[in-house]
Amino acid sequence: MRNRTPLIAGNWKMYKITPEAVDTARQLVKLVADCSNVDIMIAPVFTALDPVSGVVRGSRVALGAQNLHWEKEGAYTGEISADMLVSAGCQYVIIGHSERRQYFGETDETVNQKIRAAIDAGLIPVFCVGESEADREAGQTFSVLDKQVKMGLDKYFAKDLGTLVIAYEPVWAIGTGKTATKEQAQEVHAYIRSLIDQLFDQALAQSLRILYGGSVKPDNIAALMEMPDIDGALVGGASLDAGSFSKIVKFK
Ligand code: PGA
Repeated sequence: MRNRTPLIAGNWKMYKITPEAVDTARQLVKLVADCSNVDIMIAPVFTALDPVSGVVRGSRVALGAQNLHWEKEGAYTGEISADMLVSAGCQYVIIGHSERRQYFGETDETVNQKIRAAIDAGLIPVFCVGESEADREAGQTFSVLDKQVKMGLDKYFAKDLGTLVIAYEPVWAIGTGKTATKEQAQEVHAYIRSLIDQLFDQALAQSLRILYGGSVKPDNIAALMEMPDIDGALVGGASLDAGSFSKIVKFK
């Protein structure tokens, strides 16, 4: 039996102006008030963090951000630091999402620095990895993940990574309606866990939460969660509606 507390995380991407974000968060807080044994996080846009934090404070729902900069402060126009996220009420931060890698020049090196900044500020990093469709078709899935995980966590020690969450998101499954099968996801999750064991130690590998992301919906979450190495989900589209997200949270 898995002894890791599942985490269901909602990535709201660039959706919802502040009143909409506040309204969805309010509905969600009510819908999941009776949930236990599951951690719940939502990641609205930066401008909605502070107002949403007022709504979720003291509830079952934790707040996360979708990105951060690795420096503490400085002349970095348009960027936001880990301490700034903490002061807006965040407990989590998503790092290295494939959309950031694809459209905004995020690299394994910047991901590595961002994980450090998050940990130093006491934020829980949700470190995203995943292969593209071309990688999978070329039989490169494991080598791509290997590189992303090794470089993202280069120069870390197991003791730094106690809170780390990894999200496996095959790029071909994000926003496409094409979910990986539970067997495909389990195979990769088990691979990532064995890699963590090899790079760090068994205790970290066993406690590490590995989320699946990519077209997770209320009707496919239960099957995914049956798999021994799937510890939750990072949900995009289906997290925007409090009703559907709460159904995913209540997957059992
Ligand atoms: P999706 O997005 O659930 O809409 O596929 C997942 C993600 O990008 O985190």
